[in-house]
Amino acid sequence: MIVVTTPTGKIGSKVLQRLLDRDAPVRAIVRDAARLPPQVQGRVEVVAGSHGDADVVSRAFAGAKTVFWLVPPDYRTHSIHASYVDFTRPAAEAFVSQGVERVVVVSVLGRGSTLAENAGLVSASLAMRELIAKTGVDLRALALPSFMDNMLTQVGALKGQSAFYDMVSGNLTVPTCSTDDIAAVAVEQLLDDSWTGQEDVPVLGPEDLSSDDMARILTEVLGRPIRYQQVPAEAYKANLMAHGMSESMAQGLVDMRLAKDKGLDNVEPRTPRSTTPTSFRQWCEEVLKPAVLA
Ligand SMILES: NC(=O)c1ccc[n+]([C@@H]2O[C@H](COP(=O)([O-])OP(=O)(O)OC[C@H]3O[C@@H](n4cnc5c(N)ncnc54)[C@H](OP(=O)(O)O)[C@@H]3O)[C@@H](O)[C@H]2O)c1
Repeated sequence: MIVVTTPTGKIGSKVLQRLLDRDAPVRAIVRDAARLPPQVQGRVEVVAGSHGDADVVSRAFAGAKTVFWLVPPDYRTHSIHASYVDFTRPAAEAFVSQGVERVVVVSVLGRGSTLAENAGLVSASLAMRELIAKTGVDLRALALPSFMDNMLTQVGALKGQSAFYDMVSGNLTVPTCSTDDIAAVAVEQLLDDSWTGQEDVPVLGPEDLSSDDMARILTEVLGRPIRYQQVPAEAYKANLMAHGMSESMAQGLVDMRLAKDKGLDNVEPRTPRSTTPTSFRQWCEEVLKPAVLA
């Protein structure tokens, strides 16, 4: 039995579908089962509730060998560290008490780098990874750069201003990956019961790109000029908070971007194994362009 957390989320929904396509036995932890897509309903065991809840994870992990673990981002949290680490504490205890053998966890690039020490969300995610590692469970941590899918939050700006905005330098060249590639790698790990020990599995997409490169690709895919606009840290943070984000989360996103700008996402050497297929151009054609035209 494989337990899937966040089955309605961007990565979790794709993990769930891919597992069902391979006829794997799946138990999903979900706050509202009605939000599962119709093709999934009836094909998975459902444990209702939040995977941050001790009771819920104890029930969900009973008799399960493998868990897909993802901490949902909490944009209103007063402590990003707590929102990753405290959220995961009940599960870490239940991995041990329920005898879970393998955990595949969604985490970030940068482990072991001094740049990761004060890197906001990255530091919090790595602390969460460490908490799980300390239980001694066999672990594959997906070490992820920024997702291509983040560009979907810029659809309004792309439509209205032919621009997209971020804090990082326009010429910062970094890996980026699609949530589809992440789900594919996660499922490969979840279905493979031969691995043991604790390792990171980087998912780097097919190439490193800068925001300026992305603007050029967007210009070609959307058929009109698109520019990248770098925003200063203070304005970036103020804008996030004006849209309802907590101070802790907004600062966490700023600190993460400052570390990325110094090379946090460049520390992992690219290998054939960490190189995954979906290009930013392909993702834009298949996912972003329809969203911009809608
Ligand atoms: N975005 C990036 O560039 C990036 C890069 C590296 C790593 N990451 C990591 O990726 C993860 C985000 O993955 P994602 O984009 O797939 O997430 P997502 O699409 O935001 O999905 C999160 C899901 O969690 C559920 N959820 C929200 N609050 C919850 C709570 N309190 N208890 C239980 N469930 C809750 C929601 O489902 P319901 O509302 O249906 O319950 C939602 O579907 C984070 O851990 C982040 O650190 C992100």
